[in-house]
Amino acid sequence: MTVDSRSGAPRILLIVGGGIAAYKACELVRLIRKAGGSVTCVITEGGQQFVTPMTLAALSENPVYTTLWDLKDEAEMGHIQLSREADLVVVCPATADLLAKMTAGLADDLATTLLLATDKPVLAVPAMNVRMWQHAATQRNIAWLRESGVEVMEPDEGPMACGEYGPGRLPEPETIWTAIAARLALVAPLEADPLSGQPDFDAEPAHRPLYGRHVLVTAGPTHEPIDPVRYIANRSSGKQGFAIAAAAAAAGARVTLIAGPVTLETPSGVERIDVESAREMADAVNGALPADVAVMVAAVADWRSKDFAAQKMKKRGTAPPALLLAENPDILAGLAVARQRPRLLIGFAAETENVIANAKAKRERKGADWIVANDVSGPREDSVMGGESNAVHVITAGGVETLEQMPKSAVARALVERIARELEPKDE
Ligand code: C5P
Repeated sequence: MTVDSRSGAPRILLIVGGGIAAYKACELVRLIRKAGGSVTCVITEGGQQFVTPMTLAALSENPVYTTLWDLKDEAEMGHIQLSREADLVVVCPATADLLAKMTAGLADDLATTLLLATDKPVLAVPAMNVRMWQHAATQRNIAWLRESGVEVMEPDEGPMACGEYGPGRLPEPETIWTAIAARLALVAPLEADPLSGQPDFDAEPAHRPLYGRHVLVTAGPTHEPIDPVRYIANRSSGKQGFAIAAAAAAAGARVTLIAGPVTLETPSGVERIDVESAREMADAVNGALPADVAVMVAAVADWRSKDFAAQKMKKRGTAPPALLLAENPDILAGLAVARQRPRLLIGFAAETENVIANAKAKRERKGADWIVANDVSGPREDSVMGGESNAVHVITAGGVETLEQMPKSAVARALVERIARELEPKDE
């Protein structure tokens, strides 16, 4: 017997640990099934205190395994086979205890035995009390697991079932599914669209989630001229902004993309306005209003050369000229107080340290509704700017949601889904 007899469908072995967040595993099963994946669930003894095997069996339409002894009959399935039939093993919620057992290599129940026996990629989704999460033992275990190739998601921050506040909440099932889909794209090409359980981007245009909306996107760097041949610039490639414009258009929106100097093709269905400098970008943004949503992805230069030399500046054998800088308009902060402020205003933040704290402060300072923060520190070869993938934190008034490392197109689509969800209920 195989975990899934339908060929091509991604197969997930879901290990449900014992925590209050176990109920969210039920929603995760539903999302995986809706997207065309198959799930086989294993639930620990602790997990069964929170959800029943019957619930998981009904949602997954597969048998649910609870003890090693379920699998003693080799005519059914041995634990080695069960651990290897899946494309991906997901531990959700991964309790502090399960993570510690995985680190120690313990195998005293079905879940831990499968985790020790598997040769498949493992994604662990932790959920626990904030102190347990911050405890040195847990942090050490997570560091070791990550070093050993286990992908451990960051928990969400917010109020917890136990009444405390902090990191340790299980991420929302949609976020977990996005991480699973990204991981599956790496280990086994998906036949099913990994996001097909989400708003329908392929529906008739009038039924797409952003139909009738105007989405304004800025992307790329700006070039701030010094003289006719020299300028101040940065390394932004524009890829993330272009991907967001493409995803918004695919979701049915009318999209205006205001692009700094980049060499990317215009995504289909997108109206593009090319600009050079921050001031040109600001004018183009104001000219494109009104918009329902503005996503300011451009890495706008903070400063421009105060003076523009009409002729190329020459070396004259004297000391080099001083470059005086003037501050550029802050397009995002300006939009936040504009008469035609878009209903949903989203900024990006490229940070090299204290990513979340700095991004939260930026959200307040700039008056944005959301800030999408990414960590641009690290070696140049795998840095975010110019690269193909991104890992971001979406900071809203309600908290922080982390999207694990995935292609920029997947980040774009996940963001557009959130935008569609945010706009929907307020219209009712
Ligand atoms: O202040 P910082 O450059 O880190 O802020 C980044 C966010 O602000 C991005 O969304 C960027 O597009 C926007 N921004 C802007 N105008 C500026 C500087 C940044 O719109 N002059």
